[in-house]
Amino acid sequence: MYSRVGQRSWSSAFARVIVPVVLALGPGSACAQDSDTIRQYQFAPAAGSYELVLKEVPRPVAGDNEVLVRVRATSLNRRDLNQLRSEYSDDWSYAGGIPLSDGAGEVIAVGKDVTRFDVGDRVAGIFFEQWIDGAPSEAALASDRGGNAGGMLSEVIVTNEAGLVSIPDHLSFEEAATLPCAAVTAWVGLFKRGRIEPGQYVLLQGTGGVSVFGLIFADALGAKPIITSSRDYKLERAREMGAIGTANYRSNPDWHLEAKQISGGHGLDQVLDVGGRGTLARSLEVLAYGGHIALIGGLAGYGSDIPTNAIMWINATVSGVYVGSRADFEAMNAFISEHEIRPLIDRVFDFEDAPAAYELMESGDFMGKIVIRL
Ligand SMILES: NC(=O)c1ccc[n+]([C@@H]2O[C@H](COP(=O)([O-])OP(=O)(O)OC[C@H]3O[C@@H](n4cnc5c(N)ncnc54)[C@H](OP(=O)(O)O)[C@@H]3O)[C@@H](O)[C@H]2O)c1
Repeated sequence: MYSRVGQRSWSSAFARVIVPVVLALGPGSACAQDSDTIRQYQFAPAAGSYELVLKEVPRPVAGDNEVLVRVRATSLNRRDLNQLRSEYSDDWSYAGGIPLSDGAGEVIAVGKDVTRFDVGDRVAGIFFEQWIDGAPSEAALASDRGGNAGGMLSEVIVTNEAGLVSIPDHLSFEEAATLPCAAVTAWVGLFKRGRIEPGQYVLLQGTGGVSVFGLIFADALGAKPIITSSRDYKLERAREMGAIGTANYRSNPDWHLEAKQISGGHGLDQVLDVGGRGTLARSLEVLAYGGHIALIGGLAGYGSDIPTNAIMWINATVSGVYVGSRADFEAMNAFISEHEIRPLIDRVFDFEDAPAAYELMESGDFMGKIVIRL
């Protein structure tokens, strides 16, 4: 459990716990497996933002093409925190919805027409429940779990069988729960859009979920990852994980020039730009000839005065990445299995402490992924 003297109580910050009767059965009990009711968190409007409420609800039933999954672990992404702060929507459309896009668990029931899975299979949900392959449709992009579609912070979820992937054998549920958003995004940015090659210089910004997956993937491929952070202890850890160089973007405003220097003046062949407005111009300034930037995030604001001439002069490619499809997830899983890759999990919280996981993300005092076990 995460707690820290001097921090505001999580119950006032992010949660209102409506104590359900089944709480007394405790985590990991048979309740979710067998009972008529399950526990799940829901978004509830609260003073201009959302809070989490823990509720007891009827156990879902699988339709003909649907699967029931006993969720064993979920993980947080920056989006989940932004949703709670109501940064994406102020129309309260999430109210009553289940938070968190990412989760992994075990199939416990299948509908009569289900062909892809059997009871007992280990699975993870894909980020967009309806984006299977190819380019996304408007409908596919409106099927984001933990937003328009139901999320994973629930003991049991029901989902169309098409919206799941099998998880790599060597990963625990907690590790697999970190993959659907951050890992797929990093994978698509580097491999599908960037066509990364061994030996290339790769710039990762900050040590959050997407960037640390970028570091792990680049290292596994034999590329040369360079990563930034606001905290030196995280940079030290990143070097242990395979970063060939690091820069502290807080103490050195010219962190991008430091990164280029680390590349011996070559420049960065691949950039996963998660900073947005505060980083994009710098990313472009140090991009290698023919380099690629994946536009992923807005940690330092969205929008930019992009120097478009610079993109042209150096024959650069800039791609927008919005997570990816089931096919992308499966291609990434093959790479993860081949290289026996393990995600970096910072801390694991119990289901009852889920709001504290959000507090940790808000504090910034983490590296890689934050997980909640169920
Ligand atoms: N387009 C997509 O499909 C997609 C998918 C996933 C995420 N995203 C977006 O990508 C961004 C990262 O998401 P995430 O889930 O990986 O976040 P996260 O896990 O919460 O990572 C946050 C970390 O980023 C670093 N950071 C914060 N401000 C920064 C800045 N100005 N410059 C460089 N690094 C900074 C900090 O690392 P240090 O503590 O090391 O400084 C911070 O701990 C977010 O904007 C998110 O919305 C987009």
